[in-house]
Amino acid sequence: MEFGWLEVTVASIVLTLVLGSILTRGRDWLDPEFWKRYAIVGSVVMFIFLWILTFDTLSKTKIGSERVPSPTVINYKIGYEYNPEKGYYMPVVYKDQKELLFGKEYTEEEAMELITKGKLVIQSRACMDCHTLLGNGAYYAPDLTKSWLDPKWEKIVVPMTQAKDKAEAMVKFLMEPDKYATWMRRMPNLGLDEEEAKAVVAYLKWMATINTNGFPDHFGESKLVKF
Ligand code: HEC
Repeated sequence: MEFGWLEVTVASIVLTLVLGSILTRGRDWLDPEFWKRYAIVGSVVMFIFLWILTFDTLSKTKIGSERVPSPTVINYKIGYEYNPEKGYYMPVVYKDQKELLFGKEYTEEEAMELITKGKLVIQSRACMDCHTLLGNGAYYAPDLTKSWLDPKWEKIVVPMTQAKDKAEAMVKFLMEPDKYATWMRRMPNLGLDEEEAKAVVAYLKWMATINTNGFPDHFGESKLVKF
């Protein structure tokens, strides 16, 4: 049996009620001691459940786990497909189709170094003052969690920048977003050099492979922009 949020919630309430009724046996419900004991039991049970859930979450958000692939996924083609069983879109890594970033195949160590640099570049320029990643940040500019899969790169930015592929187009955009604007809100030029922009692209490609339970909702199905 798989434990979801409903089972965990019901189990913690039932356990609180059972332990509470054992520890308050024979006491009148108007007795303050009755409520004191229930409060203590409730707090202890919820603390234990939250403790277990925290470790359960940590194991599921680790790099290399089922939901968060190893950084070497940047060497492969990434898709976004509807999963009817789950009822949401999921990133898919086509392990039989290589799609090298900047013509290079990265080892696990090199890929990790590159995406770490990308993360540091993003932190150094406070990109989250405008954008969100995994829902964290500001809601002024597009969420970047699945930006790698945004059809606009191939449809608009590749032709506009004359780049030879999507990754190169993203690098050009990131180095001069004011020149290659695709929206009425403009992104300022944040002075990224080529190496920094490449690292950000690798980070965004890896980020797009994380299974986020369908977040952001309706990604790629915008009613405003039809490709
Ligand atoms: C002052 C606000 C602001 C900051 C800071 C900012 N951006 Fe943007 N960004 C925007 C806006 C607005 C757009 C949409 C512009 C467009 O499409 O022409 C955008 C678009 C993008 C896109 C394209 C998203 C898509 O799929 O359409 C990427 C990728 C991106 N930004 C990355 C970054 C990175 C990386 C940083 C930090 C180095 C950053 N941005 C900092 C405002 C900002």
